Amino acid sequence: MTSGTAQSRYEQVYADWARDPEGWWAARAEGLSWTRRWDRVLDASRPPLYRWFPGGMLNTCYNALDRHVAAGRGAQAALVYDSPMAGRLESLTYAELTERTARFAGALARLGVGRGDRVIVYMPMVPEAVIAMLACARLGAIHSVVFGGFAANELATRIADAKPKVIVSASCGLEPGRVVKYKPLLDAAIELSPHKPAHCVILQRPQEKAPLMAKRDFDWDEAVAGAPAAECVPVAATDPLYILYTSGTTGKPKGVVRDNGGHAVALANSMEMVYGARAGDAYWAASDVGWVVGHSYIVYGPLLAGCTTILYEGKPVGTPDAGAYWRVSAQHKVRVLFTAPTAIRAIKKEDPEGRLLRQHDLSRLDALFLAGERCDPDTVQWAERLLARPVIDHWWQTETGWTISGDFRGYGLFPVKAGSAGRPAPGYDVRVLGEDHRPVPPGQIGSIVVKLPLPPGTLPTLWQNEEGFRAAYLDEFPGHYKTADAGMIDTDGYVWVMSRTDDIINVAGHRLSTGAMEEVLASHKDVAECAVVGVKDSLKGQVPMGLVVLKSGVNRPEAEIAAELVGMVREKIGPVAAFKDARVVQRLPKTRSGKILRATIRKIADGESYVMPPTIDDPVTLDEIAGLLKGAMR
Ligand code: COA
Ligand code: AMP
Repeated sequence: MTSGTAQSRYEQVYADWARDPEGWWAARAEGLSWTRRWDRVLDASRPPLYRWFPGGMLNTCYNALDRHVAAGRGAQAALVYDSPMAGRLESLTYAELTERTARFAGALARLGVGRGDRVIVYMPMVPEAVIAMLACARLGAIHSVVFGGFAANELATRIADAKPKVIVSASCGLEPGRVVKYKPLLDAAIELSPHKPAHCVILQRPQEKAPLMAKRDFDWDEAVAGAPAAECVPVAATDPLYILYTSGTTGKPKGVVRDNGGHAVALANSMEMVYGARAGDAYWAASDVGWVVGHSYIVYGPLLAGCTTILYEGKPVGTPDAGAYWRVSAQHKVRVLFTAPTAIRAIKKEDPEGRLLRQHDLSRLDALFLAGERCDPDTVQWAERLLARPVIDHWWQTETGWTISGDFRGYGLFPVKAGSAGRPAPGYDVRVLGEDHRPVPPGQIGSIVVKLPLPPGTLPTLWQNEEGFRAAYLDEFPGHYKTADAGMIDTDGYVWVMSRTDDIINVAGHRLSTGAMEEVLASHKDVAECAVVGVKDSLKGQVPMGLVVLKSGVNRPEAEIAAELVGMVREKIGPVAAFKDARVVQRLPKTRSGKILRATIRKIADGESYVMPPTIDDPVTLDEIAGLLKGAMR
């Protein structure tokens, strides 16, 4: 599987792309259906801002659904919904998914949604979430999906920024052991937001009936009843398809924009190039539609490629056991499985010998793909040994929407180096720069950047915030996109992604901002100052830990304050932050000029060696914090 031929095939394709990037992408765009051909492949007239396929017109929903029906795939399963949480199994063919999407688009149109309008989708993992996204695409409206594990406050920030005309939600989500009532969270978020949507459409799930507000709220079924099937509205290739908010360095999330044309081209191409998946294959991204992996590889990628996508409402363990992923893979004849390393670690912990795995027929499975966080070599090797199939780590981000580096199933595969995230995808010129902004020699750690222009499918800007886009990604390394990841490229050209250069931590494959958590802790009446760091965790990769200094004169029990802080983060950011550990400390280590030494604390938390900064005010405090963090690592 890992032959020299495969390696040269990758090298050949990469060289083809590098020789003529525009010709290479134009050839890939031919496979889609356009209502108007592009004038140019790349508009490079305003560097460092670039646009792909200007002049082109298409509809993403048409390409993901109707096109396949027209080509004779109407009777093939497009979406399989498998929910151990709800005890439901449902399959929708391409013809059925097209019909239901067109009707829901008709319902949205009746509520006044049209091209360019925003629609927030705050939903659990149910087929209606996918239908709502595709219905927006059908109308040329812009969806913004908000992950269900976020609290009202986070939802409110997104409502305020995206200014949706309509919000589509459900009465509840289902988590092991509890029903998460969405409607009170939604109502609270609308209350908090200065912008109010005109309407909400609520899917009433049998586990929980939500009270609806007259005139503003509509039951999903009633909204759809009698709605005409909406036609696909052609939009400009450069028009936004969606906004996906992701953690930035402050409490204010960044609205990553995805365009229609470049996105469709890049994702359709990635299905075969990266995953080796073809029309008719069953493809399963075990993620959530609220994350980028869900957008790209539960919804758009597999459907653009004519695959059958699996929508799984459950967990890797406990629903009912650590064999769930293998059961779903076998039952739906999954060819490509994609998940986060944390899920595999959870399975490995409960079923280290793979007894549950062996109970299922995985003969159709071709490869396991991992992304979302750095994968420890142990986990890769464990999965390789038990599955006897390629286990491929690939690196990407919400901003890029698809693989920056990995191994390429479509080109055979080259030898894996466990711990590295493979080699750059055709489309990306990846470099590592030092503090002087010059390339560092192979094997040396620096900031990983991508030479501009970024390929199609990556973010063209932030939602109504071009300045923020430049400041966050383009200004620091002129001519390059800053990934905010640090790492190296070795002498064989493999990329090693080691850590973030900002305050983002990765908790169970979820991207979270420690800055946002610090804002919450700092708002507690007894807290004078604080720092939040990610502490190593053998299951979740990292978990946040809060260090707080109390205001002088506060003498309430520390445990009581800590419990309040944990409650506040859950309340303001959401359970997904997994913030469960707050410690009161006497002082935080600072420089003599009074700056908290966050970078040094972070290094200690990452288990890296650190040098006592020469400007430190009080070395004893740093030693104390180091002891505390080491004691908390699991
Ligand atoms: N709606 C509401 N709450 C949610 C939620 C959702 N959609 N998703 C998670 N939560 C809650 C959980 O119930 C949990 O709450 P608790 O503190 O009351 O227990 C909390 O958020 C943390 O959830 P999670 O990080 O999922 O941890 P866990 O301990 O429940 O499960 C794993 C651990 C490893 C099994 C789980 O994290 C997992 O499946 N990870 C895979 C991650 C993934 O697919 N990431 C996508 C990127 S590719
Ligand atoms: P998100 O935007 O949530 O997808 O998170 C993106 C971040 O997760 C990246 O910038 C990396 O820090 C990390 N990440 C994702 N995939 C990998 C990987 N395969 N290896 C190392 N880090 C990864």
